[in-house]
Amino acid sequence: SQGEVVQFGNEFQRILQCLPKESAWRTFLYKYQGIWYYPKSLEALLFTQEHFQAKATDVVVVTTPKAGTTWLKALVFAITKRNRYVVSDPNHPILTTNSHELVPFFEFMYRHNNIPDLPNQPCSRLFSTHSGFNLLPDSVKNTSCRIIYLCRNPKDNFVSLWHFMNKAVAECDTEPLIPLEEAFELYCKGIHGFGPIWNHALEYWKLSLQRPDQVLFLKYEDMMGDTTSQIKRIAEFSGCPFSLKEESEGVIDQVIKMCSFENLSNLEVNKNGKRVVPFIENKNYFRKGEVGDWINYLSPSMVEQLDQVVEKKLHGSGLTL
Ligand code: A3P
Repeated sequence: SQGEVVQFGNEFQRILQCLPKESAWRTFLYKYQGIWYYPKSLEALLFTQEHFQAKATDVVVVTTPKAGTTWLKALVFAITKRNRYVVSDPNHPILTTNSHELVPFFEFMYRHNNIPDLPNQPCSRLFSTHSGFNLLPDSVKNTSCRIIYLCRNPKDNFVSLWHFMNKAVAECDTEPLIPLEEAFELYCKGIHGFGPIWNHALEYWKLSLQRPDQVLFLKYEDMMGDTTSQIKRIAEFSGCPFSLKEESEGVIDQVIKMCSFENLSNLEVNKNGKRVVPFIENKNYFRKGEVGDWINYLSPSMVEQLDQVVEKKLHGSGLTL
């Protein structure tokens, strides 16, 4: 809300005042270098930029909201930490902890000018963000630290976002819900937290072509279509490929099963658990987990409108969403 802006320090308020601002999704968004940010996230990301020091062994999970972040974080954790946490362990952290706790967002770690005490472990530390590439700390951009990027078809992404935002609005009972048509118009203009996804995805797509060892580009639809090969890509990219022995022992299948929508959404922590910063019930991260659910929400003219926007933005890039 407007009140939140007042909490910011003077320097950040001066930055905000110079940025394009929109009242949207029952909040205010600010456009910074082509991407719309929530002010608290932008402040935290600028602070991250200043204070986070990446190590070459770090892995940073970057996504657009509602692209399947919760799932990717669980997979990356399970894959990269499997020497420490055996995937078949009934006490595996994934089974008791929401993956957003295991792979924390810079946006929340660095909130309120807090400099977190980061582990100094030699093995891969895992972080995440929805930030555009420009806002990433220099040490992330310039070390051999790895970025795993995930995006999703815009029509499904929009439907998922609309549901999620309405759940968030419903938790604050003073705000009316957001009608689908209103949300859709904003989405087509790219006005939503960390949007437009076509700018976000295009930036990381180009980087993945220029620097394939640094940026791995994934799509939700490919992950759903052939989870095994995408998991292998993640493992190889992260420097911990599955051995033939692991493959024959079924470790990949165990990872898939442990991180499946069915399994994660039925865990006690994800049915009844909450996070405090930001306040959100874990169950809100799990809705349907399907490809193509947009068909139940978008009219033919909406589909045409969004397809045209995306086609125009991505034309000639080689990227399809
Ligand atoms: P839907 O709303 O289409 O169901 P994020 O994690 O980035 O917030 O994205 C949430 C979306 O990912 C939701 O999509 C959610 O249901 C889906 N999701 C969550 N866990 C998943 C899993 N293990 N496998 C596949 N999809 C998952």
